[in-house]
Amino acid sequence: MFGPARYDPDHRQDKIDSYRPIEEKDPMPTSHNFRADQNCLPFHSTTNRGSQLSITMRMSRIILIAATASIGAVSDAFKFMSNWQPPKILTDQQKLKIAKTQERFGDKKLVVITGCSSGLGRETVKNLLASDEYHVVGAVRDIDKMEAVAEIDGFNMDNFHIMECELNSFESVHRFCDELKEYQMAKPIDRLICNAGVYQPSLDYAKWSVDGHEQTMQINFLSHFLMISEVIEGMKEAPEPRVIMVGSVTGNDNTVGGGGVYPIADLKQLDGFKAGFSNPVAMADGYGFIGAKAYKDSKLCLMMMSNFLHSKFNRSHGITFSSIYPGCIAETPLFREKRAWFRKYFPVFMKYITG
Ligand SMILES: NC(=O)c1ccc[n+]([C@@H]2O[C@H](COP(=O)([O-])OP(=O)(O)OC[C@H]3O[C@@H](n4cnc5c(N)ncnc54)[C@H](OP(=O)(O)O)[C@@H]3O)[C@@H](O)[C@H]2O)c1
Repeated sequence: MFGPARYDPDHRQDKIDSYRPIEEKDPMPTSHNFRADQNCLPFHSTTNRGSQLSITMRMSRIILIAATASIGAVSDAFKFMSNWQPPKILTDQQKLKIAKTQERFGDKKLVVITGCSSGLGRETVKNLLASDEYHVVGAVRDIDKMEAVAEIDGFNMDNFHIMECELNSFESVHRFCDELKEYQMAKPIDRLICNAGVYQPSLDYAKWSVDGHEQTMQINFLSHFLMISEVIEGMKEAPEPRVIMVGSVTGNDNTVGGGGVYPIADLKQLDGFKAGFSNPVAMADGYGFIGAKAYKDSKLCLMMMSNFLHSKFNRSHGITFSSIYPGCIAETPLFREKRAWFRKYFPVFMKYITG
């Protein structure tokens, strides 16, 4: 997982120290040292201008060091107040909501993951639930399938909640977000995992979403963008919120997996998006439809969005946005259009090429 480290105030003093000249990095003189070092004291000044100047300079340095140290000490003393909030007076209704939230989630982190009825998402939920640290909401297009999978895998249903979300429709995403807000009650989302995706390299014509957009781009990118936009404000209430996009090496043209296999992800000047990206405009670059490129372009958009949102919202909202490449797992249904030999040998090949 990637993403810049957060600013840590504990390292502030170290940073200040590292910028000081070496002679100033000595420990602060004690009051006893002050007396022992005659040059430090103004009443030991001589009439010599040069030595007066050097005394003044040393004094200024001492004052500067003392001031810096005392600022650090004062800021340390008030650190405990950084998270201080004025006491809230709660209505009975609010108290009830908090009690119900506590009953539902306890001290578990709330994770929302899209597309967990199969493949990588399914394995992720299995592991999250096994750790007993998370309450997971699975956003899936097929509730019956998800229920069957949860039963087969023995998911602990006290900590797993299934909700419908068809990413091929913005209306469905809106509805999901509204229902999610009700389900969360007073609990902010700790992790949002944008995992669902489709890959249709054999398609030789574009298929359109309910909203009239090329469906690979809508499912993999646009609908996740919409979902993030709807939950982002609430997420800043979580202690260390994270949004994770499941990207792909195929979206990076500087890798063998992405840059060495045609067609290569390339949004060009975004002419397709600029033209509204609606039927009949199927590709972000405005050119004709290519199924494999539609997938790669959508992953490129998702990964660029991660970087963009991190730079825009990490400071203001405290949310860490990152994208991951899970490696090549060609036995998941994502590769349903590929031949059996490909599904068997391609992951081995990719393991040694892309890691
Ligand atoms: N496998 C790999 O080697 C690989 C490599 C790089 C990146 N990835 C990425 O990893 C993610 C998971 O892939 P996977 O290999 O686990 O594939 P997968 O088994 O096919 O899982 C994809 C999931 O997305 C869901 N989904 C598809 N269309 C949807 C829609 N319209 N609305 C809501 N959900 C939808 C699927 O639901 P259903 O169960 O109902 O079909 C499924 O749960 C994808 O984003 C993929 O691009 C995978």
